[in-house]
Amino acid sequence: MNYDSLYKQSLKSPELFWETQSNEIEWFKKPQEILSKDSNDYYQWFKDGTTNLSYLCIDKHINDGYGEQLAVVYDSPVTHKKESFTFNQLYDEVSRLAGGLKSLGLEKGDTCLLYMPMIPQAVFAMLACARLGVIHSVVFGGFAPHELAIRINDCKPKAIITASHGIEINRVIPYKPFVDIAIEKADFKPEKVILFKREEAPVMDQKPYDVDYQQLVADSKITAAIELPSTHPSYILYTSGTTGTPKGIIRDTGGYATALKFSMKKIYGVDEGETYWAASDVGWVVGHSYIVYGPLINRNTTILFEGKPIKTPDASTFWRVISEHNVSVMFTAPTAIRAIKKEDPDGEYIKKYDLSSLKFQFLAGERCDAATLLWTKKHLGIPVIDHWWQTESGWPMLANMVGVELLESKVGSAGKPVCGYDIQILNENGLETKPDEEGYIAIKLPLPPGTLKNIWGNTERFKKGYLERFPDFYFSGDGGYKDSDGYVFVTGRVDDIINVAGHRLSTAEMEEVVSNHTDVAECAVFGIHCDLKGQQPLGLIVLKSKTSNQLDQIQNQIVLNVREEIGAVASLRNVLVVNRLPKTRSGKIMRKLLRNIADVDDFKVPSTLNDIQIISEIQDIYKSHRIGKFQ
Ligand code: COA
Ligand code: AMP
Repeated sequence: MNYDSLYKQSLKSPELFWETQSNEIEWFKKPQEILSKDSNDYYQWFKDGTTNLSYLCIDKHINDGYGEQLAVVYDSPVTHKKESFTFNQLYDEVSRLAGGLKSLGLEKGDTCLLYMPMIPQAVFAMLACARLGVIHSVVFGGFAPHELAIRINDCKPKAIITASHGIEINRVIPYKPFVDIAIEKADFKPEKVILFKREEAPVMDQKPYDVDYQQLVADSKITAAIELPSTHPSYILYTSGTTGTPKGIIRDTGGYATALKFSMKKIYGVDEGETYWAASDVGWVVGHSYIVYGPLINRNTTILFEGKPIKTPDASTFWRVISEHNVSVMFTAPTAIRAIKKEDPDGEYIKKYDLSSLKFQFLAGERCDAATLLWTKKHLGIPVIDHWWQTESGWPMLANMVGVELLESKVGSAGKPVCGYDIQILNENGLETKPDEEGYIAIKLPLPPGTLKNIWGNTERFKKGYLERFPDFYFSGDGGYKDSDGYVFVTGRVDDIINVAGHRLSTAEMEEVVSNHTDVAECAVFGIHCDLKGQQPLGLIVLKSKTSNQLDQIQNQIVLNVREEIGAVASLRNVLVVNRLPKTRSGKIMRKLLRNIADVDDFKVPSTLNDIQIISEIQDIYKSHRIGKFQ
């Protein structure tokens, strides 16, 4: 069947379509009720089916006779270590850890926070939680203790699983000490912290809540995967919203498994037994869906890469990993390719490796610029596919579904809607725009299986943020347009979320930290273009009339505060002082205008601007600091 007919089928009879797809995974009890509504009057899939993600990722393959196939390959250029785990070994690690968690009192419905570097124990911990129906919440290591504390207060974990330390380029990240600080800051106190001590772990304080990971696993017994309702929350994953508080996206179990299995075969075109590599981090949705659950459900060998595209040790690392582990399909962010391209513009490293195993290179996480796409295509000589999705969807919404039919790609477009997603471009009034006319990217309900269920503890925010803007649609927060052939072009967020090196960050959250500085009267933080990271945050501050500190002291302190409160990943490096900020007549700061002054040559001055003179003032400041196009 070609893409067009499969896509049409998925929209015409969603229940029949997804019931058929659900037969591709194993159920303890097959669902009879395919699509229904939950107590919040929102859609849910496979309500009466039961299964278990950990079982699907491990036990099923052993039962099918693939116990000796490699499940996880850990490749860590930062520690010079490599380690492989077969499905049998994964079973041992995961089911013993699950036994350990059980012995500590963790059970179905409890929450457990994971703060881990990219080591195999991060994967074991996620799967051990899933085995017991414990809802995990993985927090990305680049977030600071304050952010960790916010998440602890929100999801109230019974336990935290962490490691002694992580390794960044030339820097050790003190994971366990960060957890201790976060617990001290948080109002909610977890009962236990399960600590995996890595080799060469620095000396750390012992806390009464500490449990030794290695000892816990050694003392534990093999523990079976329990039967879980399809609608059981498998995890909470926090993502940036437009306020200072992150949103805990909830994922279900059976719908997620069905969607991931479908996506591995039909979007990524990867067969069981092949090696799949998503060069991301378990702290992001890409890590959840395509380092852990997707490839393992599809019986692929997944690569767990602890390194960077460059400097670990150089720009050849990606190509070495693909060649050494026979990777069939790879997924990374355009920013990683830009970093490689900068160091190796002629792709000399690419020529040195046998990359014949690689069928497709997928890119996502941020808008992909034409130069990056074309460079990758030229040097790899295989289809390079930009595709679009977000934490909320859990799996791709726009793509070239190469497992169904390899369509012609259009530079600048993330492809056509994936089966199950009725993607429409709407105008302010909720009406569909004409071809090539820009609008809001929205998706007609119901969303397919595997997409968000709710926001943890905040149904109102879920409805307000996603469902109320356009009745009967899910609003993605992105803008874009569709051409007359049905290709969708994503132009960027229409809210205050920015994307820095493929990391989704909230400028509202940064503004909160900046405005807390005693010398700041008001401020604006927004994203401007960056050749390497796609976007980078820029802060503008208006100082109070009487300040006690030197200007550069204030600026440095603000940069440090953001790093300490949000984390290094926020990457706020530039804070400039202005006399005033552009505002609408009703007093709203015009962040889009501030961004346009930095990035766009021929921008439109909004009619609501109360004072036109301010534009040249801001331009002069950007010029003197070589910001954006004034570099
Ligand atoms: N734990 C702790 N700190 C982390 C971290 C982690 N897991 N990940 C990043 N950081 C830190 C970095 O060390 C850096 O700190 P510094 O300011 O002291 O140098 C800071 O956060 C910013 O990191 P980043 O934006 O990643 O910049 P970089 O210069 O270290 O690396 C790239 C640039 C392009 C190589 C890197 O961003 C990259 O590989 N990006 C791909 C991202 C990706 O895969 N995204 C997932 C979506 S698919
Ligand atoms: P996250 O939830 O962290 O995965 O970030 C999702 C956001 O990243 C989306 O809402 C988009 O703004 C952006 N994004 C992801 N993939 C793409 C893409 N292929 N093209 C353009 N923007 C993208």
